[in-house]
Amino acid sequence: MADATLRELADQHGLTVGAAVAGDTLRNDPHYRGLLKGEFNAITTENALKMGELRPDPNRFDFADADAIVSFGEVYGMSVRGHTLVWHNQQPDWLRPWERTDDQLEQFLRTHIHTVAGRYRSTIDVWDVVNEAVLDDGSMRETVWYDAMGEAYIEKAFHWANEVAPDATLCYNDYNAEGMNPKADGVYELLSRLLDRGVPIDAVGLQMHALHEKPDLEAVGRNVERLQELGLEVHLTEIDVAYPDADKPEHHRTAQANFYRELLELALAADINTVVTWGVRDSDSWIRSWFPDLTDDPLLFDKHNETKPAYDAIVSTLAETSSEGSQSARQP
Ligand code: XIL
Repeated sequence: MADATLRELADQHGLTVGAAVAGDTLRNDPHYRGLLKGEFNAITTENALKMGELRPDPNRFDFADADAIVSFGEVYGMSVRGHTLVWHNQQPDWLRPWERTDDQLEQFLRTHIHTVAGRYRSTIDVWDVVNEAVLDDGSMRETVWYDAMGEAYIEKAFHWANEVAPDATLCYNDYNAEGMNPKADGVYELLSRLLDRGVPIDAVGLQMHALHEKPDLEAVGRNVERLQELGLEVHLTEIDVAYPDADKPEHHRTAQANFYRELLELALAADINTVVTWGVRDSDSWIRSWFPDLTDDPLLFDKHNETKPAYDAIVSTLAETSSEGSQSARQP
């Protein structure tokens, strides 16, 4: 028992424990592949399914990285999460300058979603259909999609995904909406409106990038509860934990481990069925290049493929917590 891997413990709890995966690292690094299949029962495509990666030009798709990640997940019996069909970032360079009508843009997005979600209809289990549509004040973000279709782009995207991938769990995903704040309220209200209109949405993803500030976990618990009361699953989709380098706790890896532990305890208590870290090893994380002011060790494994105190914290929490009452116990 003491030697059980994270994956074995997650399976016992009926918990989906995933990591974001990069196609080139997956191809080139056997240690990375070993950690993924040994320690996780799920993977998320970190960049490979973003429109900018997939669409070198308006008429072409490049599925090489996505296919590699998805088939790795298949081979090793992992749940595969597709990230993401509609976003305002990492768009193709040609998209903004492209001269087209609003209707043409709508048809383009429809074809994109039908092609991508349709290709993986039997291999991608969960889709982050729409990513980051809400601003910090709770209002809708003005994106190329919003400008052409208004808020309706969101429900259209979910319907299109559902048409071709009816068995997939369809998710809305966002950041800074974990605790109780105007953005979380905006997300909650958006999801309520969508559900009232019968939009096929199954889950909400709270990214949980615990970086410059840590969310108050008590408030996260209340937010999770109200989202679940709408009938949605709640997933923690992009977890990483870092501290401002200039102002970090004295033993920041211990503080980090404690935060991971408390987050997992919250997930287990709140019936959150999916937790995903945004990468495997610290050296794979986006933090170093995006936030050089932060400690660059946000994940569960270090650059030598070794476990960290954060890993020990979640493994011991899972080992010490009975799986009675967690998801697996209720499965037929
Ligand atoms: C990040 C990737 O990790 C980086 O490699 C890339 O350069 C930028 O995007 N929220 C999201 C993710 O939904 O798609 C982002 O991923 C991190 C923030």
